[in-house]
Amino acid sequence: MPIKLTQPFDDTVISTQEKSFLRNLQANILKGHGREHVALLFLEVTDAPKARAFLHAFPVTDAHTQLQDALQFKATRSPGGVVRLAFLSQRGLAKFGRQGAFQGFGAFAGGMAADTQVLDDGTTASWQDELKRPLDVLLLVAYHHEADFARIVGKLAADLGDEDSGFAIRFVQEGRAYKNADGEGIEHFGYVDGRSQPLMLQSELAKEPRTVYDPAAPLSQFLVPDPLDPPGASSHGSFFVFRKLEQDVAGFKQAEEALAADVGMTGADEERAGAQVVGRFEDGTPLTLHQAAAGVPVANDFDYSADAAGGKCPFHAHIRKTNPRGSSPGGLAFDKGVQMARRGITYGVRLQDPDTKELVDQPNDGVGLLFMSYQASIENQFRFMQTVWANNENFPKAGIGMDPIIGQRGTLGQHWPPIYDSTAGAIQKLFAGFVTLKGGEYFFAPSIAGLRNL
Ligand code: HEM
Repeated sequence: MPIKLTQPFDDTVISTQEKSFLRNLQANILKGHGREHVALLFLEVTDAPKARAFLHAFPVTDAHTQLQDALQFKATRSPGGVVRLAFLSQRGLAKFGRQGAFQGFGAFAGGMAADTQVLDDGTTASWQDELKRPLDVLLLVAYHHEADFARIVGKLAADLGDEDSGFAIRFVQEGRAYKNADGEGIEHFGYVDGRSQPLMLQSELAKEPRTVYDPAAPLSQFLVPDPLDPPGASSHGSFFVFRKLEQDVAGFKQAEEALAADVGMTGADEERAGAQVVGRFEDGTPLTLHQAAAGVPVANDFDYSADAAGGKCPFHAHIRKTNPRGSSPGGLAFDKGVQMARRGITYGVRLQDPDTKELVDQPNDGVGLLFMSYQASIENQFRFMQTVWANNENFPKAGIGMDPIIGQRGTLGQHWPPIYDSTAGAIQKLFAGFVTLKGGEYFFAPSIAGLRNL
């Protein structure tokens, strides 16, 4: 039986055929690799034959190895090995003469820098110089142990620095994860991140209550037949979006406090101001389930049908904009189909209280999110979510304003209801400007056979 892409993947019993499917798929697509240290090496191809040979020998981690590592971790708590992944931009594919196989994939062909609708101010003026340079290939290395990780990345950088590699290193970006006292990953504004994901593995679905909102997603939402595949083979790859999003933590925290004061949220209710920005409290509890839910991980089995007027969770809140869970004009199947596999990690170093795990300093810059996502269509998923939902001041209703975290170029004040579960007396105020795009690119994550056939 061929692998059915129209449904999630059953990883609870793996047949020989499923094993060969997994062995030919890069890790990190079906589920996040979970390592706490990541290095992204952005490369320019200087000599295509040599670079091709380098990539052929690069030991990319496959999905089967990742799933085996995860099982071993569950049984013995012993963490898995180094994860190594490889991605090519359209420009990189052109260097290897393979761009012709990638016709009809929309904005992928022009690259992110040319995609004005997803840029702050429509230009790359906000980008750091290193990321404005040509980025042909991205290699990602991830590991749990900081000192060994530094050694492994150093060795790879030295190999790439050798003129025989066929590459020049243009930029190395490191990422490191932060966790709260419950061991949940947090982003720099202090909120649990990564809680809600479309799930494509049965083992992950089995852990989630899903009577109201079912995060199950078919493989075809993330995988495409690999255009680099040799004819007659059947391999899969995925389109990959990278965005370096810098966070002004001090500015955000001051604006959160000012918002609470303006809306008149005091005492125990003060935190609701930030929750109206994100759609969740810092511990991840959805605003829509506020006063109902408890526990770790927090509940994710909800939709907005009991909050149709936006009195609990405003329409502009980041998680309501980016996943309306069936409340958009497109309906549930459509909203679910836009979801990507988000695999981001924070970057930059913070001061963390060793006991409470609170991030105590409040930098203006130098920290942020390395947003990374896998999808079958950049056009219908990342781009759609960013431009038709997050940036759009009239989605899902006229005049509600843009997403206060990732929205770009909006000027309308969003509506902030002071009373929980009521829109009465909502004040209008623009909350924006605390996330800046420092660079990004559209890539393709080829199958392992496709990479060998480059
Ligand atoms: C610095 C930038 C960003 C920050 C600080 C941020 C923060 C968060 C937080 C705290 C959550 C809640 C946890 C969760 O539901 O997993 C979340 C969820 C989410 N974010 Fe972001 N995010 C950022 C960028 C983006 C971007 C660029 C996109 C897509 C264009 C995006 C799409 C989503 C989606 C789809 C969800 C899950 C919503 C759901 O399923 O209910 N985020 N984000």
